[in-house]
Amino acid sequence: MCGKPQKERPVANSNLLTLTAIKADVGSRGGHTQPSEEMVAVCEEEMHNAVGETLLDCRVTTTGDDICMLMSHLPENGPSVNDLAWKALDRAGDIAKTQGLYGAKQDLLTSAPSGNVRGAGPGVASITFATDAPERPAETFMVVTADKCGPGIFNFLFGKVFTDPDMAAGLMLPNMLDGFTFTMIDMEHVEPGKNVDRVIRLDGGKELPKLKLLLRGEDEYGILAIHSNRYPHQQVASTSTDRLHSIAGVYKGKDDPVGLVRTQGIFPAPEELMSPFTVAPYVAGDARGSHNMPLMPVPINTAVTGVYCLPIVSAMAYSITPEGMFSEGVDMFDNPAWDSTRKKAQLKAMLMREQGSFGCAMLPYSQLEYAAYRKVMEDLNERFVTESR
Ligand code: 13P
Ligand code: MG
Ligand code: MG
Repeated sequence: MCGKPQKERPVANSNLLTLTAIKADVGSRGGHTQPSEEMVAVCEEEMHNAVGETLLDCRVTTTGDDICMLMSHLPENGPSVNDLAWKALDRAGDIAKTQGLYGAKQDLLTSAPSGNVRGAGPGVASITFATDAPERPAETFMVVTADKCGPGIFNFLFGKVFTDPDMAAGLMLPNMLDGFTFTMIDMEHVEPGKNVDRVIRLDGGKELPKLKLLLRGEDEYGILAIHSNRYPHQQVASTSTDRLHSIAGVYKGKDDPVGLVRTQGIFPAPEELMSPFTVAPYVAGDARGSHNMPLMPVPINTAVTGVYCLPIVSAMAYSITPEGMFSEGVDMFDNPAWDSTRKKAQLKAMLMREQGSFGCAMLPYSQLEYAAYRKVMEDLNERFVTESR
């Protein structure tokens, strides 16, 4: 946590406030497990020094081998915040190199980008909102961070919570009766040299079956944003949707997403948001980014040491003042209530591992994250011959 005595809030041009979470793997100890303490400390130092200038407040956490920086700031400082996060990750990566850690600067895929790290490797989620909207008398939100899996975990989570009153009874309340609109992105679409997205907007009520057809494709389609239909200016969720292999053209680790989601009042409550995680769904990721394994909810700052990796997810809940100051965080999975889900995930993992690399235990050839697997396939394809029967 940054924890610096707050300076005066910089003079705002408007009542708008931005939350940005930037997350990346820039090296880890003992394999793809956890960054070193010195790496986290240097990110905290960079954030801490910027509070009162570029930043209003900040928090630094880890999930598996990824470092996540949560920042509040004025919207106009967005480019500087992106540059700041890159600098912090770059310094942490330098430390990883010096310490001989694994995968140093793994997710820093380009040379220093200017003003926008999206498409350069780190995952970015960001939401801007008005601090004086009458429908939001208090602002609460959650940061969801995952390791050893792709952005598709949010397709599962948000696809349930924002469309199904059985999962979130709040959807039957007047403020949410009109439902939510999903902005879906084609994650495989890359136009070299251009910063463009291929997106479609679908109403999570009237167009639910069509939306579900995209949500099920966890490797192809991601959720860029979700907005309230009753209050269309209110964005409730943002998730990182970059596919590292699409950016780099080769395997660079799994995408390990981050999501921001505002909660309570006109939006689903934290308990509604968390409930789909009791499923421990099988997701793409795990060892070598190439398996289907269950997603285990774990406390923040947990190292990856589970069965064959095991994809993990953490969730931190905060309140934020109109001046951009965070409350202490609440670690949503640091509770014995989640022990039975963890046991279930463990059991599902062991059951899947019984079939080794066979069939659905591993991803389709096209999605295997290590390009070298495809090289072996190419060699085999050359050895295939046609024979008459
Ligand atoms: P990360 O994407 O978290 O670096 O993990 C990569 C991997 O190959 C794990 O086996
Ligand atoms: Mg790694
Ligand atoms: Mg990772």
